[in-house]
Amino acid sequence: MKKILVIGSKGQIGGELVEELRKVYGQENVISSDIKEDNNTNGIYEKLDVLNKEDLFSVIKKHAVNEIYLLAALLSATAEKNPAFGWKLNMESLFNILDLAKEKQITKVYWPSSIAVFGPTTPKINTPQYTIMEPSTVYGISKLAGERWCEYYYNKYNVDVRSLRYPGLIGWKSMPGGGTTDYAVDIFHQAIKTKQYECFLSENTTLPMMYMEDAIRATIELMQANPTCLSIRSSYNLAGMSFNPKEISTEIKKFIPDFNIIYKPDYRQQIADSWPQSIDDKEAKNDWNWKPNYNLEKLTQTMIKNLS
Ligand code: SER
Repeated sequence: MKKILVIGSKGQIGGELVEELRKVYGQENVISSDIKEDNNTNGIYEKLDVLNKEDLFSVIKKHAVNEIYLLAALLSATAEKNPAFGWKLNMESLFNILDLAKEKQITKVYWPSSIAVFGPTTPKINTPQYTIMEPSTVYGISKLAGERWCEYYYNKYNVDVRSLRYPGLIGWKSMPGGGTTDYAVDIFHQAIKTKQYECFLSENTTLPMMYMEDAIRATIELMQANPTCLSIRSSYNLAGMSFNPKEISTEIKKFIPDFNIIYKPDYRQQIADSWPQSIDDKEAKNDWNWKPNYNLEKLTQTMIKNLS
């Protein structure tokens, strides 16, 4: 019997992931948790600081948890403002969970990585799975180190850990917090509310992106995949679409013709410039049949329909 704990369920991915996991495995088998208080939860919720090992262990015992999705993290822009805490949260949370799996308290772990593991020296177009990796952000350094530790725990201790390098994620059910790709969510909210958007990245900054529904499906498909099919235990490249602020604003104008975008790049421009423009995810396609459903056109249509 599966008992799943999602840590960081109030973040951009968490809410939608919990919703989908509950559809698949049953409401009572998915426990959501976050460091924040929760007032309006319908399923089981635990207020939990993942850095507190004792509390973490007692939640796992209380609910007989055997599978964990660890989503708590500081993202790229926030971690640049607080490097020490970014490193602490992103690494210690992972060790706490990997060690529980090593001690066989839990049997399976999901942990997200990111396109931020790549850096300015990485080939930018169709970035392959195996390539130069010299991330220049605290977030990217923590994700690359985390990937190495995941693979290490798999090889040395037989820990069943699985991971995806998410591109920028775009959805209408939740807001992102502290990332460099956040503009691609914000732009829809502002376009609908004020028909104006001041973009913190320049018009030609192309980045890999994905619609949230695709990302959630990829996560669950990877976790359900037969372990013998998985050739990668660090983290899989994962691709959906690629676009820049100019291209997404052109799509938005098809629905909101008087939408206006202006560009005021800030410190996040440098982060975006260090990341790939597009991703080659052939290993995910080959190993567990990954296939995205959303391109920029379908994404724009869906976002505008649901936010209007
Ligand atoms: N979307 C994330 C960020 O911008 C990347 O993983 O930080």
